[in-house]
Amino acid sequence: MKKILVVQYSQTGQLSDVMASICRPLAEAEALEVVVETLEPEKPFPYPWSFFHFLDVFPECVALDPPPIKPLSVGSTDEFDLIILAYQVWFLAPSLPITAFLKSTAAQHLLRGKPVITVIGCRNMWSQAQETMRQLLADCGARLLDNVVLTDQGSALASFITTPRWLLTGKKDAFWVFPAAGISDSDIQAACRFGKAIEVALAEDLEQGEGPLLHGLRAVEADISQIQSEKAGYRSFKVWGKLIRRVGKPGEASRLPVLVIYLLFLILMILTIVPLSMLLKKLLVPLLREKHLQAKAYYEAPSGSGTERMAMFGCPE
Ligand SMILES: Cc1cc2nc3c(=O)[nH]c(=O)nc-3n(C[C@H](O)[C@H](O)[C@H](O)COP(=O)(O)O)c2cc1C
Repeated sequence: MKKILVVQYSQTGQLSDVMASICRPLAEAEALEVVVETLEPEKPFPYPWSFFHFLDVFPECVALDPPPIKPLSVGSTDEFDLIILAYQVWFLAPSLPITAFLKSTAAQHLLRGKPVITVIGCRNMWSQAQETMRQLLADCGARLLDNVVLTDQGSALASFITTPRWLLTGKKDAFWVFPAAGISDSDIQAACRFGKAIEVALAEDLEQGEGPLLHGLRAVEADISQIQSEKAGYRSFKVWGKLIRRVGKPGEASRLPVLVIYLLFLILMILTIVPLSMLLKKLLVPLLREKHLQAKAYYEAPSGSGTERMAMFGCPE
């Protein structure tokens, strides 16, 4: 009997739904035991968020300085054959509860030498968070075998409206010309293909190798023209985050004016420089094709965006 540990956190329930879909085939398999550990911050984060609280978590997200979470229910000496780490992105970094887990001594024990699959459910900006995740996992001595990314439905422009509306008001429904917020139900249902593939891979002991276990299943799709903007955004987050942390502690009113100035600066950048630089990158694609393909392969590693095994696991290509 092989044991799988799923570590997850979800505010709205979206990422738990994704994990329930992935875990369904695993839970039904007789040769597997699935243990789900849901992280609980000592002081819960609000949902829906107030505008100030939403902005106020940004400096700590980027500084990887999370508030404490409650002790885990699994013992740190428990042994697992595979660990699936599901996380959402907060301000281009892993969300604070997941960072808290990865920085805990329990994670150091649970993850050392173990094969890990990361599953991201976010709006659509995950590349820099996964770079951070790779480092945090390496610090724990874990072996990253796969990365699955599910992003919000609709265009990037649409989710720039629908995701904040959802998180700040709790309204997820479609409205005016905009689709519903979040990952589509069909994408969540189709994520069960990853569970089926993990079951087959574990039966062949493939988790003991270098992976990936989830290739050919359209696990991840990287948009390289957007990643350049994410990199620039992340650098700017680091500089401003440091400044805001000097001005006050989380929750202190002294942070508000700097946060608002930064937000206005950010919106201006997103509406002007970002689309211009993305357009330029798109125009340059034919000239920089080779570099582009290399970058795409890097960010999509280890699992990749290939679709050749989709039909094998019950999904149309
Ligand atoms: C404070 C905060 C910051 C966020 N920042 C990002 C981000 O930088 N990139 C992104 O793609 N999604 C971002 N999101 C969206 C989340 O990744 C996620 O899709 C959403 O919060 C739903 O996750 P849930 O499973 O916890 O409900 C952010 C959400 C929150 C609450």
